[in-house]
Amino acid sequence: MTADDLKQKYIDFFASKGHTAISGSSLIPQNDPTVLFTTAGMHPLVPYLLGEAHPGGSRLTNCQKCIRTGDIDEVGDVSHLTFFEMLGNWSLGDYFKEEAIEWSFEFLTSKEYLGFAPELLSVTVFAGNENVPRDDESVRIWEGLGIPSARIYALPMEDNWWGPAGQTGPCGPDTEMFIDTGKDACGADCRPGCRCGKYFEIWNDVFMQYDKQADGGYVKLGRHNVDTGMGVERTIAMLQGKASVFETELFAPLMQRIAQMSGRDAQADAVSGQAFRVIADHLRSAVFIIGDEQGVLPGNLGQGYVLRRLIRRAVRFAKQLELPAGFSRQLAETVIESYRKAYPELERRHAHICTELAAEEERFEKTLTRGMAELNKVLENMKKHGQTVVSGRVAFRLYDTCGFPLEFTEEICREQGLEIDRDGFDKAFEKHRSVSKQSAEKAFKGGMADHSEMTTRLHTATHLLHKALQQVLGEHVQQKGSNITPERLRFDFSHPDKMTPEQIAAVEALVNEQIERDLPVSYKAMTLEEAQTAGATALFSGKYGEQVKVYSMGDFSLEVCGGPHVEKTGKLGRFKIKKEESSSAGVRRIRAVLQDA
Ligand code: ALA
Repeated sequence: MTADDLKQKYIDFFASKGHTAISGSSLIPQNDPTVLFTTAGMHPLVPYLLGEAHPGGSRLTNCQKCIRTGDIDEVGDVSHLTFFEMLGNWSLGDYFKEEAIEWSFEFLTSKEYLGFAPELLSVTVFAGNENVPRDDESVRIWEGLGIPSARIYALPMEDNWWGPAGQTGPCGPDTEMFIDTGKDACGADCRPGCRCGKYFEIWNDVFMQYDKQADGGYVKLGRHNVDTGMGVERTIAMLQGKASVFETELFAPLMQRIAQMSGRDAQADAVSGQAFRVIADHLRSAVFIIGDEQGVLPGNLGQGYVLRRLIRRAVRFAKQLELPAGFSRQLAETVIESYRKAYPELERRHAHICTELAAEEERFEKTLTRGMAELNKVLENMKKHGQTVVSGRVAFRLYDTCGFPLEFTEEICREQGLEIDRDGFDKAFEKHRSVSKQSAEKAFKGGMADHSEMTTRLHTATHLLHKALQQVLGEHVQQKGSNITPERLRFDFSHPDKMTPEQIAAVEALVNEQIERDLPVSYKAMTLEEAQTAGATALFSGKYGEQVKVYSMGDFSLEVCGGPHVEKTGKLGRFKIKKEESSSAGVRRIRAVLQDA
């Protein structure tokens, strides 16, 4: 069974159980500053999990592209990926544990679908803690399906609790499904979740009953939701009897291309194997991030920074394999070829993806050349003074300020018989990391996931701003990105020139006029084609006939959007543009606030 077969079977199966198939969303979350990337299929659905009506109804299913870079250093093993596809089915206040688990079991074991032998299946459930009891209901349902209690493991919150994607939002206990790979257990404690590779996790059913608050508390949701996620790459590996996701057809063309370019074999030794896997994984992610409908470019902040790290880490490993300059462009071609049917945005942005990857590869080459010159100066100086240990502070400066990877510094020092003070480096690194973590947390607190009144108001203001920009600057204005915190909105849009003070004043006045008119805000569900015929602004490119919500603000604005919004524009207060600046070529960025009227 190929990945395409798996995806089709999944959607068909859940459609047969009354689910509406919906499109996946962008990798870049819209209006949600709580996370940098879409990390799970549930993420774009947060407003609906919290109670907003979904036009597709209360049972949904889809395939969502995801990025997770939390454990980037684990990439290179057999199962961790930074980009992956997740199949999911959702109940929005509809069915709960019984149906969710029974359907998971049926899909996994039925001959018509995946046909895994039930004996290969082990599951985990939430063991309970002082706030939430043990999930006995799930245990009972699994036992009823014939899973013996010896293969049902109750694990603590670290393992069996799905926390919200950001700091706040819907969450709850989960039950995870593992396939036994047939490897010997690594010891008496070996169990699902163990890293030895005996148990391979493929699916997770989350039972969402709680909404985590900004103060860390849990409030019971008034209804029960189900959120499930099946990893496409992992499941395919198990169905095909492969030991690693990198051996499936999803990676084979990339691995072959790397082998051709390097003249090496991924199996030759452990170090080459890891380099092959890191390069393949990171470039695949980079292609999807740049090629996304809301794609970003390498940079020093936020998503751009993560993208830069991925590309540069790939370049570093490419050096180990002595891949030729320009390798990133060639591998991008391979990724696009494999995925262009399922993700037409990659084909549309083909040239752009290749150009930007090549440019970042080249920039990093320059950084390396500069770093080498800097390091040589340091080494000469040390020799003059008879020193043999490079201080942690100096190694960290090379890494942090010059962008020169520590591994390179280590390798060159080794060649010259010198050492690096690793403890000193680690200390400098930790200090830096805790400072940047604090600032990242500050930057991503709050947002649409918590539905706070202020973010909802700013979201409504964003629609008014979008329309006002089109009226003042012209129809070419299109949303390129939106990010809202409880303090301000940030809106990126296509426009070639800096806005004049007169234009800024005209946009502000137009938005404030709509606020004063106290326009009613409401939505209708319709198909995307109907929305377009009605003249609604739509960023969204979905499946033909897919139901969407179209929000209107009086006669002023009509836009496809998930919500939520305030009921009357009069609630917004006074709209003020704080800053207008360039975001990237041909894209302007506005920051604006709502003040008390
Ligand atoms: N949101 C759950 C996960 O990603 C299903 O595992």
